[in-house]
Amino acid sequence: MPVEAETVTGRAPTRITVLGATGSIGQSLADLLEKNPDRFDVVALVANRNAHALADMAIKLKASIAVLADDESFPVLTERLNGTGITAASGQAAIEEAVDMETDLVVGAIVGAAGLVPTFRAIKPGRRIALANKECLVCAGDLFVDKVRATGVELLPVDSEHNAIFQVFEKDQTDQIEKVILTASGGPFRTWPLAKMNDVTPAQALKHPNWDMGSRITIDSATMMNKGFEVIEAAHLFPVSNDQLDVLVHPQSTIHGLVQYKDGSLLAQLGSPDMRTPIAHCLAYPGRMPVPVTRLNLAELGKLTFEAPDAERFPCLGIALAALEAGGGAPAALNAADEVAVDAFLKERIGFLDIPAAIEAVLERLAASDMLKPAKCVEDVLDLDSEARKKTLEWIGSRTSWH
Ligand SMILES: NC(=O)c1ccc[n+]([C@@H]2O[C@H](COP(=O)([O-])OP(=O)(O)OC[C@H]3O[C@@H](n4cnc5c(N)ncnc54)[C@H](OP(=O)(O)O)[C@@H]3O)[C@@H](O)[C@H]2O)c1
Repeated sequence: MPVEAETVTGRAPTRITVLGATGSIGQSLADLLEKNPDRFDVVALVANRNAHALADMAIKLKASIAVLADDESFPVLTERLNGTGITAASGQAAIEEAVDMETDLVVGAIVGAAGLVPTFRAIKPGRRIALANKECLVCAGDLFVDKVRATGVELLPVDSEHNAIFQVFEKDQTDQIEKVILTASGGPFRTWPLAKMNDVTPAQALKHPNWDMGSRITIDSATMMNKGFEVIEAAHLFPVSNDQLDVLVHPQSTIHGLVQYKDGSLLAQLGSPDMRTPIAHCLAYPGRMPVPVTRLNLAELGKLTFEAPDAERFPCLGIALAALEAGGGAPAALNAADEVAVDAFLKERIGFLDIPAAIEAVLERLAASDMLKPAKCVEDVLDLDSEARKKTLEWIGSRTSWH
C-alpha cells in the first residue's frame, strides 16, 4: 500500500465496493461509512434503478464510480453526478467492470437471485466478502463456498443470525459443537390463528415487529421462509450437519444466534435489532469499531422469551428444511418460487397462505420432472431459477386447474 494512502491514524483505509448500495442494508452500511471517512475509501456503489438515492450516496461517500443495472435510469444518474468527478455507468458490463476494480472488501447486498452473478464475480483473491445476499448461499451454496475456498477469500456473514453465530463459533472446536441455533422473531403473525392468516394484507405483513428491512425479506419473515433460507445459509457457512441446525422463536430479537457445546455451554450474541452492528463487525473484522446503536438495557428489558416454531401455521419453514434435505436444485427452485410468490402477494394477486401453496406445488412439479439436479455452474442455477419462476407464474395464473 503506498504511503500516501495511509491516514492520520497510520492505517491504510479499507477500499470498499457495495453491491445493492441503495437498499436497507446499503443504507445502514452508508451510515457507518459516512461516520468513518478516514477508515474507508468507497470504490464503487452498485444499485438497480434508484438513480437519485445512488447519486446522493455516491456524493456523500465520495465514491469513485456509481453504477445502475438499469439503463433507463442512467440519464438521471449522469445528470446528478455531472461535475462531481464521480463516474456514472449502467448495464451489466459496467457492473462487471465495477466489481473488477481493485478493492479490499465487497459487501454483497443485492436482493434476490439478481445478486448471484455480480457477487460470484466479486470473489477474487486478496479480498473479503461481507455477504448479506443470502440467495448466493441458498441457490448456489456449494458453488459459492467452493469458489470462496479456491480463491482463499474470507467470507463474513452480514445476516444478523449468522453474524452472531460466527462471533461465538469456536472454529478450532468444531468437534465440540452440538447445535447451532438461529433465533426468529416469529414475525407479525406469531400469535395469529391459522384461519385469520388467510386474510393477511401486504400492509400487515410489511409491518415487522422488530426489524426495518426491504420488502421481500420482510414478507419472508412474516411467512418464516426467511428463517428457512437462513438455515440453508447456515448449512453452507458453518461446518455442522443439517440436523445440528435449529430454529428458536424469540420475539424480542435480542439474542441473534447461539452455539451449544458438548460441555453444556450455550454461547450467544445479544444486541439491539439494528443491522449496523453485524455490518460493523464485518467492516472492522477481526477488530471492532464503535457503532451508535441503542445499547441493550437488560434490566429494563426484564425478560427474554422463547418458543418452538409452529410448523402448521408457518409451513414455509418446513418446506425450506425439506429443500435443504433434498439438496440439488431444490433450494434454488425454492428461492425462485418464493420471489415470484412474494411479488404476487405484494401485488395482491394471491393470498398470504397461497405463498407456501405455490412454492410447494412448484417444487413437487419440478422434482417430478427430474429438474432439481445439482448445478455444475452458475448458469445451471440461473436456468433452474427461470424455469421455477415460469412454473410459479403458471401456478398463479391457473391455480385451480394446476393438478
Ligand atoms: N434488510 C435487512 O435487514 C437484511 C438482513 C439480513 C439479510 N438481508 C439480505 O440482504 C439482501 C438485501 O436486502 P435489503 O433488505 O437491503 O433489500 P432492499 O432494501 O430491497 O435493497 C435491495 C438492493 O439491491 C439492489 N438491486 C436489486 N436488483 C438489482 C440488480 N438486478 N442489480 C443491481 N442491484 C440490484 C437495489 O437497488 P434499487 O434501490 O435501485 O432497486 C437495492 O440497492 C437480501 O438478500 C436480504 O435477504 C437483509
